[in-house]
Amino acid sequence: MAAPRVAAAVLLLAVLLTLAATPSRAATLAQSPPTSTSTAAFQLTGNVYPTGRYYITMNIGDPAKPYFMDVDTGSDLTWLQCDAPCQSCNKVPHPLYRPVPKKIVPCADSLCTALHRELGTSNKCPSPKQCDYQVKYTDSGSSQGVLISDNFSLPLSKPSNIRPSLTFGCGYNQNVGKNGAVPAPTDGLLGLGKGSVSLLSQLKQQGITKNVLGHCLSSNGGGFLFFGDDIVPKSRVTWVPMARSTSGNYYSPGSGTLSFDRRSLGLKPMEVVFDSGSTYTYFTTQPYQAVVSALKGDLSKSLKQVPDPAMPLCWKGQKAFKSVFDIKKEFKSLFLNFGTGKNSVMEIPPENYLIVTNNGNVCLGILDGTVAKLSFNIIGDITMLDQMVIYDNEKAQLGWVRGPCSRSAKSILSSFP
Ligand SMILES: *[C@@H]1O[C@H](CO)[C@@H](O)[C@H](O)[C@H]1NC(C)=O
Repeated sequence: MAAPRVAAAVLLLAVLLTLAATPSRAATLAQSPPTSTSTAAFQLTGNVYPTGRYYITMNIGDPAKPYFMDVDTGSDLTWLQCDAPCQSCNKVPHPLYRPVPKKIVPCADSLCTALHRELGTSNKCPSPKQCDYQVKYTDSGSSQGVLISDNFSLPLSKPSNIRPSLTFGCGYNQNVGKNGAVPAPTDGLLGLGKGSVSLLSQLKQQGITKNVLGHCLSSNGGGFLFFGDDIVPKSRVTWVPMARSTSGNYYSPGSGTLSFDRRSLGLKPMEVVFDSGSTYTYFTTQPYQAVVSALKGDLSKSLKQVPDPAMPLCWKGQKAFKSVFDIKKEFKSLFLNFGTGKNSVMEIPPENYLIVTNNGNVCLGILDGTVAKLSFNIIGDITMLDQMVIYDNEKAQLGWVRGPCSRSAKSILSSFP
């Protein structure tokens, strides 16, 4: 889902060391049948503030052309703004994708049926020749278009000339006001949810990668995204079983009990979802208010509340702050305990819930989701920074492990034998 579109993503690290330190890998591979799946790794661009999103460059078409795509683990359908011709598109970084008629997906295609089932009743095919869709997001954004299949050039660990044909939306009508009035920093959205139309599900279906994805969003900006399980660390990861979210087909570790500085906030367990398409974290009114009171009750005398156009709740210090790390010592960690084992706690240190704005103020990066009309809680990019967050659909579990996200996608791919 894309919540109040300020974007989203997460983290990684010691995993790579594990791989490099496995000299017997080649020998093992020679004896057993080669695994048929590969890992894809992408460089991320973007940051929480001020960009508000993390995106990759995907090369699509024949010949392949580059497109910037927002990484969204909160929705399934991948789409590009599209010259079909376009009725309502933003000004985007690259020329609009141009569909050719033979790549249009017919209504009878199983992915069309699955997409319509997931999106609900208003999605129908006016013509059997094509699969029309309309998808709406929680931030009241939307995309209307037709499904297309075209070749994707993927950065894979096993070099291959095959460029899989994947199905995505050619969006000719985005809810962006007057045509081109609002420039968009990306050409489209990369849908990585659990549904069958998700790019990840299609890659699994075609035997290209495992149905596992991970991201490592750096607080310095950038980071990496991967599909496949080869670089997932074998130890240190906190794993929690995926729960069925009551609020949609989201990735959810279930309900967690929120505490502040290890002190109970007296709240009932709250259902959360992981959404890289949301820049900030959203709590419903009760936990939001509890966090705000706990923070205010604990606030350093050197901080004064000030208005700041960036966020609803900000403080200034005696001097302007340059980074969250200037002020982090004055704040305590939040904890979410998922209670599914002795080690199923997510620590949310200050740098995972605060931002420092261009005005040098420090602001709360947790927002009141009820104001944004959300009835559930979203762990957004800010809270996933500087850790590898893993969505393992093969084992139905979600994991996270702290570590730097500075490794390049190129170096990840070249670490494979
Ligand atoms: C591109 O996709 C088509 C299927 O639409 C496939 O037949 C073709 O082999 C793909 N091209 C490459 C280079 O893999």
